[in-house]
Amino acid sequence: MIILGIETSCDETSVGIVEQKDNQLTIKANVTATSLQLHSKTGGIIPEIAAREQVKYMLPVLQQALKKGLNFDLSKYQILNTKYSVPIDAIAVTYGPGLIGSLLVGVETAKTLSYICNKPIIPVNHMLGHIYANWLSPSLSIINSPLSIQFPALALVVSGGHTDLLLLKNHSEYEVLGGTRDDAAGECFDKCARLLGFDYPGGPKIAELAKKGDNKAFHFPRPMLGSHDADFSFSGLKTSFLNMTKQHLPLSRTTIPNSKAGWVQTPVENDLSDKEKVVLYNLCASLEKAIVDTLVKKTMHAAEEHGVKSILISGGVAANDLLREQFEKQTVQMGINFFAPTKDLCTDNGAMIAAAAFFNNKPVNWQDITVDPELYY
Ligand code: KG4
Ligand code: ZN
Repeated sequence: MIILGIETSCDETSVGIVEQKDNQLTIKANVTATSLQLHSKTGGIIPEIAAREQVKYMLPVLQQALKKGLNFDLSKYQILNTKYSVPIDAIAVTYGPGLIGSLLVGVETAKTLSYICNKPIIPVNHMLGHIYANWLSPSLSIINSPLSIQFPALALVVSGGHTDLLLLKNHSEYEVLGGTRDDAAGECFDKCARLLGFDYPGGPKIAELAKKGDNKAFHFPRPMLGSHDADFSFSGLKTSFLNMTKQHLPLSRTTIPNSKAGWVQTPVENDLSDKEKVVLYNLCASLEKAIVDTLVKKTMHAAEEHGVKSILISGGVAANDLLREQFEKQTVQMGINFFAPTKDLCTDNGAMIAAAAFFNNKPVNWQDITVDPELYY
């Protein structure tokens, strides 16, 4: 069985083609275009701009994925009076949550493809898509075996907008145990990085500088560790980072006048003395450690409480090396299997949407799908 997955919930336009053969899912193509660079200039995503870029990228990305994955040349098929014979079994598409304009581009494309190819559409929740990136790991068996992801499993979704813990009892059978009450973990990384003058996304930059620092140099809070629930909160940690940074670094240097844009951000790192640079690295390392400790401890606590066999992480922050290392260590100690997608599959992509569709295969007719920007789980 082959599923084509379309993902356009935010600033990435992506088409993945995934095949189920024997016990494994294999990615035949996963082509992604991003408008991230445009948004880093404005310090955040402007929905209208993101949607316009989706329109620009959608067809070239689809065309490239079909060519790469199935050697199918869409450009040769220009007459609409014959049905297209694209060798796929279904089209999976993200229908929410996300930006309405961006979501519409993917869903309308899926509807058109469904109509002209006469294939069913499988609507996919974007957040579940992130979790299912774990089933795309090379050498993972998808049927029940020691090499497969065993239920019950605990899924931590950590992205720029979400920090959620889900108990997966089986495919399509899950319970949301908790989420963030304010900022998401990725948002905390991004806002702290912004304070230091770095562009979006700030997580990778903080992680890079953290590698040169001492994570015990500053003490930041580990919010809600004693709360006896699965909720998170990162806004206090962000304020604590602001106060500590103001005390130790000259933050006024992070914006400079610019004749075209009024004021532009400039990384504080650019004009620090060597001694101040060490302070910067230590601040980043201590912040990263506080975020990672909080995520790992709360997840391990929930894992113990629910007696899970596997822990899965997903979303952009799942690419963080320290987070992956800490989970690896702690899960070994507790005898729980730990899974994380390959780093390229932590961010938005079409293959994860196709993967989710294999296990939550509820097809609809093209007339019956609409976008749901506010979709929860
Ligand atoms: O899932 P994602 O690509 O987009 C959504 O927010 O849906 O996640 C992006 C988030 C950003 O907050 C970014 O700073 C964070 O993931 N991120 C990281 C790393 N790579 C991406 N945070 C910490 N360490 C990283 N290596
Ligand atoms: Zn996402």
